[in-house]
Amino acid sequence: MKLAILGATGDMGYGLALRLAQKGHEIIIGSRLEEKAIAAAEKAREEAGVSNVFGMANSEAAKNAELIVISVPTAGHRALLEELKATLAEKPVLDITIPFAFKPLRYAPPAEGSNALETKAILGDNSRVAAGFHTISASLLTDLSHPLSGDTLIVGDDADTIDIVVELAKSIGLNAYNAGSLLFSGVVESLTPMLIGMNKRYGSNHLGITVTGF
Ligand SMILES: NC(=O)c1ccc[n+]([C@@H]2O[C@H](COP(=O)([O-])OP(=O)(O)OC[C@H]3O[C@@H](n4cnc5c(N)ncnc54)[C@H](OP(=O)(O)O)[C@@H]3O)[C@@H](O)[C@H]2O)c1
Repeated sequence: MKLAILGATGDMGYGLALRLAQKGHEIIIGSRLEEKAIAAAEKAREEAGVSNVFGMANSEAAKNAELIVISVPTAGHRALLEELKATLAEKPVLDITIPFAFKPLRYAPPAEGSNALETKAILGDNSRVAAGFHTISASLLTDLSHPLSGDTLIVGDDADTIDIVVELAKSIGLNAYNAGSLLFSGVVESLTPMLIGMNKRYGSNHLGITVTGF
């Protein structure tokens, strides 16, 4: 599949790009600056030993992909979605962003209730938005010496988009579950600030979650 990961010059999107490229997906790293995206793509090709990673400005990346991953900090979330609304409203979108506030570290969602619900509110009722990967740490994704493992909950209102994202997650070694409506996105987004606090208490940098009982 051809994916654009907007903001994949940062660790989270970059790690996802490495992992998905190694499984044969064509990846376009998106950035606000085309030259930064091109440099990140060159580094990714070298690091992952692949040829299928490219770099483009965010708008071109989104136009050229079948699925778009949003991987920017909350400070730039709304503006990016509004800027690229026409393109993103037409395609499956995976939002992996988390709205944080600091001192104390906490979940701080926008008025819509979560970043993913903000995305849907901007892109419209017919948009195909899913959210997931919130509890997978960037440090795990970028460390290619370790196979990926762990569980991730995928939410969304479009069954086809959820299925695509679940398969993408499984292709890189994760257990991925359809966790239901995008109305639950606040639940999954809010796990991450809690896990960051737990990382500090337990001396880790990649605590995640496991679903049991199957
Ligand atoms: N780190 C984790 O372990 C983790 C885990 C789960 C989810 N997440 C979420 O995934 C997202 C990305 O995480 P990250 O750690 O990779 O973030 P990051 O490094 O802070 O940012 C990623 C990229 O976003 C772009 N960016 C920065 N400010 C922006 C703005 N105001 N407007 C538009 N683009 C902007 C930058 O790319 P350019 O300068 O190239 O445009 C930057 O390299 C965040 O929402 C984070 O909460 C992170």
